[in-house]
Formats: sequence, structure tokens, C-alpha cells
Amino acid sequence: MEQELQRLQEEAQQELAALTEAGQLEDFRIRFLGRKGSFSTIMRSLGTVSAEDRPRLGQLANTVKARIETLFEERQSAISKGLAADADRDQIDLTLPGRRPEIGKLHPVTQIMNEVCSIFEGLGFSVAEGPDVEHDHYNFEALNIPAHHPARDMHDTFYVSDSILLRTHTSPMQARIMEAQQPPLRVIAPGKVYRCDSDITHTPMFHQVEGFLVDKKVSFADLKGVLTVFTRKMFERDLALRFRPSFFPFTEPSAEVDIACVICGGKGCRVCKKTGWLEILGSGMIDPEVFKMVGYDPEVYSGFAFGLGIERIAMLKYGIDDIRLYYENDLRFLSQF
Ligand code: DAH
Repeated sequence: MEQELQRLQEEAQQELAALTEAGQLEDFRIRFLGRKGSFSTIMRSLGTVSAEDRPRLGQLANTVKARIETLFEERQSAISKGLAADADRDQIDLTLPGRRPEIGKLHPVTQIMNEVCSIFEGLGFSVAEGPDVEHDHYNFEALNIPAHHPARDMHDTFYVSDSILLRTHTSPMQARIMEAQQPPLRVIAPGKVYRCDSDITHTPMFHQVEGFLVDKKVSFADLKGVLTVFTRKMFERDLALRFRPSFFPFTEPSAEVDIACVICGGKGCRVCKKTGWLEILGSGMIDPEVFKMVGYDPEVYSGFAFGLGIERIAMLKYGIDDIRLYYENDLRFLSQF
């Protein structure tokens, strides 16, 4: 056994000296040091030697194994140094990190849209989606905006034909849903809307969320309550709200809602144009004319509605001053959200 061990050490030494590639090392390790390798095979006969010789042979075996392992490691490091030297010659820097895969994520507009929807879902609203290509009837007529009504001018409509257009707001969903369902209703309708307009605060396509609630005895106080909860959750602080009288053909009375400027806290700055307030949405009590057109009795039912622009909310929340950034697909911008 003693001789066998010595022979094994010599053999290993010779073989290792001849190895030149990393791939050969593993083969060597398995043949000499592996569970079924030569060393283990010799060790199995240790049980058959006399008890007298066993300690000495055991010790010798350990020394031989350690020696082979040391030689193996030396060879291994010499080979890898050789590889690095080759790589150096070929100008490959093995220490450089690999190319990192780009992990996609949701667009900031989608993130805010989801956030808005989940706040309203928490208040018991259900989510409905409708078509981007809309009938003139739902976009205008059913919302109390007949042909030649001056309110149509504000909409910069893209027409597909005389009676078909790209919806200019999400409000047509009010008419579509009320026509198909009976109160009580609590619905929000998120989606894309289109207007022929483009500058730092307008893009030809943007996103709105429409919301409305219809039931018996709904009052303006309910509207205020819902919007107060919404803005506080959305902007994560106790913001003051201002309801400013306004006009929309489909609500009466109507109000535009402002929040205390999230940048200056109401003191007045460039973003709020020194007013201390930021307009965030349009709202009001649903006009009895709209109820009549969908067959609801305005003496029995009342309701409120509101519509908000997602890009605008995201601009205010993140302090973005040019709406076009959302759609230029510059990853340096998008990856910040
Ligand atoms: N549809 C309006 C717009 O796009 C926003 C709006 C105002 C929606 C008042 C409403 C509302 O539901 O009650 O300008």
C-alpha cells in the first residue's frame, strides 16, 4: 500500500505538469481525487492491513492526498493566470461586469392610472372601459352638447366621419353605462382620449379617469367627501381643496377642483403661477338633462361626476414640467419611476 501511494503521488505529479487547459483539470480531479478515483480505491485497502501498520499508513495516505491537492491547486492557478494573460493579449477584460438585462416596468402614466383606480375601488367604485373610437352621440349629444353648441369648440375633435370621432374625454362612459344599467351606480372609467392639440401641457393623446355616482339623495357634499379622500390618498398628505364654480354642459352646478400647490404648499410659485392653487379636475352634479336622455327620472335620482387628467396628476405628483416627456420614450426619463 505504501508503494501504491507513492506511485500515485508520482503519477499525479507527472500528469498535472502536462495539463494545459482548464477543462482537463476537472477530469484529473475526478480520476485521482474523486469518490471513485485512484486515491479512494487505495484507501479501501486500508481496512485489510494489520492494526500495527494502520496508523502509519493512514498518516502517509493523508500526506499524499494533501500533496496532490496542493499540486492540483498550483496547477489550477497557473492555468487560470495563463488564461488571463491570453485574454490580456486579446484585450478582453474578464473583470468587467456582464451586460445587465434591462428589466421593463410600467410606464409612469400606467402606474398613476392604476393608483387612481385602486383608490376609487377602495371607495366601492367599479371600473369600466369603453371605446376610443366613439359616436358623436355619446361624446357630445348624450352629454347635453348638441351640434353647434359652443362647448364643442373646446374639444379640438379628431373626426373619423361626420358622426364618428376619437373620444375627446371619458365622459361618454357616463351615458353608455347609465343607458345600460340602473342606479345605484358607482363607476370609474379610465382610458385614452384624443384632442388635436400639442404643446408643453398638451399631447394629442392623453389619459383621463371619469368617475360618477348615481343614487337617491346624492348631494354635493358627497362629491366633496369623495374627492377629498381621493386627493389626500393620491398626494399622500392633508391637502386643502378648493371648489371653483365652473361650467360643463353635463353637470349643474359644476366646479373645477384645485388642490393647494404641492410644490410651494400654497405660498405661490412658478408651478402654480403664484396663485397657490393647482387645478386637478372638473366635476359637478349630473345635469337632469343627461338623466332624461338615458331614461332616469331626475326627480328620483341625483348624482355627481368628475373627470381628471392622469398626465396632469403625474406631473404634479412628480414635479414634471413638460407633458411631452411621457411620450418621447427616453429611458433615462422613464426609468426614474
Ligand atoms: N369631460 C371633461 C373634460 O374632459 C371633464 C369633466 C368635467 C368630467 C366635469 C366630468 C365632469 O365628469 O363632471 O374636460
